[in-house]
Amino acid sequence: MPMAERPYIVGNWKMNGTRAMLSEARAIDRAAQRYMKVEVAIAPPFTLIHAVHREAEQIGVGAQNCFHGPEGAHTGDISASMVADSGAKFVILGHSERRIDHGESAELINRKIDSALEAGLRIILCCGESFETRDAGRAEEFVLDQLRASLPDISDAAERLSVAYEPVWAIGTGRTATTDDIAAMHAAIRGLLDEKYGPETSANIRILYGGSVKPENAREILSTPEVGGALVGGASLSAESFLGIVVGASETEDA
Ligand code: 13P
Repeated sequence: MPMAERPYIVGNWKMNGTRAMLSEARAIDRAAQRYMKVEVAIAPPFTLIHAVHREAEQIGVGAQNCFHGPEGAHTGDISASMVADSGAKFVILGHSERRIDHGESAELINRKIDSALEAGLRIILCCGESFETRDAGRAEEFVLDQLRASLPDISDAAERLSVAYEPVWAIGTGRTATTDDIAAMHAAIRGLLDEKYGPETSANIRILYGGSVKPENAREILSTPEVGGALVGGASLSAESFLGIVVGASETEDA
């Protein structure tokens, strides 16, 4: 089955996890071997990437951020090539927690994408509107502007790209967007990707949904048109709940 057709379920551990969590990663990896029609990955904190990479036989391992330039005098930062060297195959960029907590601009995210591509990494580019923006009826316009400002220009890069739509108000709140809203936003994002890269290349880019995805709602969300997977925060921290989402993904028609 072509890569872009497999549902892609990615756990973003955020700032959670010490070595005690390696057993969860191992359990996720072993169980993922039973669901080969689903592509499963986790992005642990930097401190665990190498250890998870060594444990992982089936799942992909990635990072949650990288610096926008090559090596040098940047105390506390981690470059894209260091991320790749630690065993990561992808990096999440543009997460709203980075945009909001660290003031990351679309232009900075674009530079990080270039660095990550240069280092051979795949990318999950996040976008999403605040509650105020949705309430004001400007969600689509806002998300498309975010993407226009960050998407890489070269269509070769599209093969290594996924986009994650994560409405800020749905992250960690237990509230999810309705499947109608998700379908409408994903269709708008697909329109932009078609326009930028052409429909053939765009078809290789999966659009994930993120924001309070759980075993109970995974199947419905993942069956929504244009939803190619999920970026999961809280529910990815235990193998049991994360695997519940993987099972939900395996039951969708695309899987
Ligand atoms: P939650 O699944 O905890 O809402 O987090 C979503 C998210 O931000 C994934 O990147």
